[in-house]
Amino acid sequence: MSQPNILITGTPGVGKSYLCEKLSKKHDFNWIDCSKIAKDMDFVEEYDAEYNCPILDEDKLMDYLEPVMAKGGNIVEYHGCDFFPERWFHGVFVVTCSNTILYDRLKARNYDEKKLKSNIECEIFGTVLGEARDSYKADIIFQLNGETRADAEKSLDMIENWYSIWKLRK
Ligand SMILES: Nc1ncnc2c1ncn2[C@@H]1O[C@H](COP(=O)(O)OP(=O)(O)OP(=O)(O)O)[C@@H](O)[C@H]1O
Ligand SMILES: [Mg+2]
Repeated sequence: MSQPNILITGTPGVGKSYLCEKLSKKHDFNWIDCSKIAKDMDFVEEYDAEYNCPILDEDKLMDYLEPVMAKGGNIVEYHGCDFFPERWFHGVFVVTCSNTILYDRLKARNYDEKKLKSNIECEIFGTVLGEARDSYKADIIFQLNGETRADAEKSLDMIENWYSIWKLRK
């Protein structure tokens, strides 16, 4: 594989898309926003009325992504990471954010109180970071901070460095 597959994960609103957009433009990576694909391709199992969100049909998404991932050169974005095949990813980046900043971002999206609370708890408990640690080898997992623009610049530098090393090692 001449290009790696990168996973950018973290609680909704931490800044995954912000990083993916910049990286995909700079390196010509294929940015795969799983939530968007699920919606566009109707990979939705049912609608969760309690949390007011669609429930992803993981199997349909996996079948769709398998040939795409085999080619390499993808940046995959999703707010969960425990159901992807481990073999797909060369680097897993978990974006985290302070819960006060995250609260304001999700509030600006007009999330209702229940959805807000569950997402903030997800961030406080480090749920996605825990999922990543349970699902991938420790040496490919990196934690990034998504609070400020300066943090995003640092994160982009870190991913750039990781990419340079990946190219040297491959
Ligand atoms: N590092 C940052 N500094 C300041 N603002 C940021 C940063 N990263 C993202 N934002 C802002 O926070 C909001 C949420 O960011 P973004 O859409 O990238 O989150 P996300 O993790 O992709 O969310 P989702 O899981 O819903 O896809 C956007 O308005 C974005 O401009
Ligand atoms: Mg996003």
